[in-house]
Amino acid sequence: MTKQKAKLTIGDKVFEFPILDGTVGPSVIDIRSLYAQTGLFTYDPGFTSTAACDSSITYIDGDKGELLYRGYPIDQLADDSHFLEVCFLLLYGNLPNASELEEFETRVTRHTMMHEQMHQLYHGFRRDAHPMAIVCGVVGAMAAFYHDSTDISDPEQREIASIRMIAKMPTIAANAYKYSIGQPFVYPRNDLNYAENFLHMCFSVPTEDYKIDPILSKAMDRIFTLHADHEQNASTSTVRLAGSSDANPFACIAAGVACLWGPAHGGANEAALNMLREIGTVDNIPEYVARAKDKNDPFRLMGFGHRVYKSYDPRAKVMQESAKEVLELMGVSNNPTLQVARELEKIALEDPYFVERKLYPNVDFYSGIILNAIGFPTSMFTAIFALSRTVGWIAQWKEMIGDKQKKIGRPRQLYDGSTYRDYVAIDKR
Ligand code: CMC
Repeated sequence: MTKQKAKLTIGDKVFEFPILDGTVGPSVIDIRSLYAQTGLFTYDPGFTSTAACDSSITYIDGDKGELLYRGYPIDQLADDSHFLEVCFLLLYGNLPNASELEEFETRVTRHTMMHEQMHQLYHGFRRDAHPMAIVCGVVGAMAAFYHDSTDISDPEQREIASIRMIAKMPTIAANAYKYSIGQPFVYPRNDLNYAENFLHMCFSVPTEDYKIDPILSKAMDRIFTLHADHEQNASTSTVRLAGSSDANPFACIAAGVACLWGPAHGGANEAALNMLREIGTVDNIPEYVARAKDKNDPFRLMGFGHRVYKSYDPRAKVMQESAKEVLELMGVSNNPTLQVARELEKIALEDPYFVERKLYPNVDFYSGIILNAIGFPTSMFTAIFALSRTVGWIAQWKEMIGDKQKKIGRPRQLYDGSTYRDYVAIDKR
């Protein structure tokens, strides 16, 4: 929908560009004809002012601290829904009715086993390989096992690939964990729900079933739900960019996993807990806070700050409640790491440096604390984020593939290297 025009004056020429409105949130200046009209590009490293696509999946209001999946607020979904229902919502646009949900859950559940030969892939990795390295490799390798779902021009194949990825990600991540601790892989169980099944595959052994506490499976389900999508973040944009070349969906999701691994993004949950352990005791906090404020020190408080949320991270709020329940259940609510976490949160919320820059604890600050209490090693945290975000990546990828305006993503640059120069023979340099 066009509202009014934006005018750009360069010298004595005036150029006009349409302003497009969404249903909510900032409007955008449509500059698709900018280069053709003016011979100029826009310059926006980090995309701080650039909308790269239109999307109807997830909405974030960073000032209000609001996150909506298809219009529904994240706190309601975390409390009243469950992960597979949220997957349906993200993929198809609306909440399912009872029979749609049953059919969807059955379909996902029936795809949770991985091709038996894929187990051998794991044995090619060192036992101390990071689970994210394994997950990235195994997801990419799915294209070599599921040839009947790599043709992106066929909607049926796109659908099967989507279901396969959502269904198999817990198995892929759990196997990465089992491999790292030298235990046999545990096959999925179709009588368990998505979160229970993941806990089962991670913590059961052939000699003894893991007893799943409902508080822990609910906390796990909430972690999946809260991480399920987050509009055009770095890994989702990576998936879209990879998909824009018509690459197969498994390759695109593997690209998303790789991007998520970085500590500024999904890797922050692992980095945050490692940081809390490094700080060690409450007495050491002032030293670390001083380092975080020192511009000559690259250290940052991991789990604090967000590009979009500038009042609070609504996911962190839900996660904080979950953390309380889980820690009480596990009887660890007073261990030294948690004391550091609580005190650090308090100091950062009062310190003018953090208040002025609107640096609040984000989702990753609390998720690590919960995952640690459940029994996961820090190296698994980002893999769990990846399995939760897979549905969001897929929903965004499907939306893009179905978009008639889809074009290969191809940013331009401001070149500041050498201008033309002739090659110089080696003896003349
Ligand atoms: N500790 C100390 N100072 C910080 C922090 C932090 N965690 N985050 C931002 N700042 C400062 C930064 O130095 C800058 O100060 P100044 O204006 O004086 O130069 C100001 O705050 C703005 O920072 P920025 O780097 O321009 O902000 P950004 O929007 O580019 O970065 C961020 C956002 C999330 C990458 C960043 O806050 C950060 O590195 N946080 C720690 C890592 C983290 O927790 N990431 C998880 C994000 S949530 C989940 C996800 O997306 O995966």
